[in-house]
Amino acid sequence: MEDKWQEAYEFAVEVARKAGAEIRKAGDSEIKVNTKSSSVDLVTQTDQRVEKIIFSALKGKFGEGCHRFIGEESTVDSCVLTDKPTWIIDPVDGTTNFVHGFPFVAVSIAFAVNKELEFGVVYSCMEDKMYKARRGQGAFCDDEPIYVSDVKEIKKSIIISEHGTDRSPEKVKKIFSTMQKILCIPVHGLRGSGTAATNMCLVACGAVEAFFEIGIHCWDIAAGAVIVREAGGIILDVNGGPFDLMSRRMVSANNEIIANRIIKEIEIFPSPRDDGK
Ligand code: IPD
Repeated sequence: MEDKWQEAYEFAVEVARKAGAEIRKAGDSEIKVNTKSSSVDLVTQTDQRVEKIIFSALKGKFGEGCHRFIGEESTVDSCVLTDKPTWIIDPVDGTTNFVHGFPFVAVSIAFAVNKELEFGVVYSCMEDKMYKARRGQGAFCDDEPIYVSDVKEIKKSIIISEHGTDRSPEKVKKIFSTMQKILCIPVHGLRGSGTAATNMCLVACGAVEAFFEIGIHCWDIAAGAVIVREAGGIILDVNGGPFDLMSRRMVSANNEIIANRIIKEIEIFPSPRDDGK
């Protein structure tokens, strides 16, 4: 049977690697910072430039008319997922890290067809680690297969969460209250790399048991979602229901036991959906 998307998958890896090299180079010179939704929601010229580089490579190869494109910095189409082949991209996941020189920054490229994620590529460019996965074909880091951890006891786990970019006191209170409850289960530790895409890869390769966040966007997590699933993990909504890419909330975990134990502690707060529904 014709392997329809293999070429697109391989091209995405190539493009992610080139984009990562651009980010590394840009980090050596002065970084110009602007803000978006709040004073802590940062964007740089590098985010915008790298997104243009990725989009023009993909459009050049696959044609603008045939594929749709959703990107953090320039969402050309709306965030509504259709059945058309759709690229979902975050050129610089971990912009705050990039601005501060905190060494975790990722290029995240996902591809969906018929509203289903087909493959995901996350290039952690400062560490030079290439994570990738195609539906049904396993997950890899630098071409080595990766698997989630087999820990089933929450008390033996490390959990990742992030604070996002919304600093309204009510939300921050809920985020910290959730973290306090999880920390006091007790778990071995709480962590956060500052990039959702990398956090998901850390779940996928078994370095941590789970990562959850409310307020992330589809471009932060689309590629990571394929990688976690293909590494043997699961993705759920923060209420325990099915994962919805546009809902801006998710729990990714090594297994259902760990996911559900965390879900018990999560204090949910509203976050407007990416597709505006
Ligand atoms: C952010 C990172 C961060 C997460 C935020 C995201 P950006 O993405 O993934 O880990 O906590 O919610 O917005 O803005 O650096 O691409």
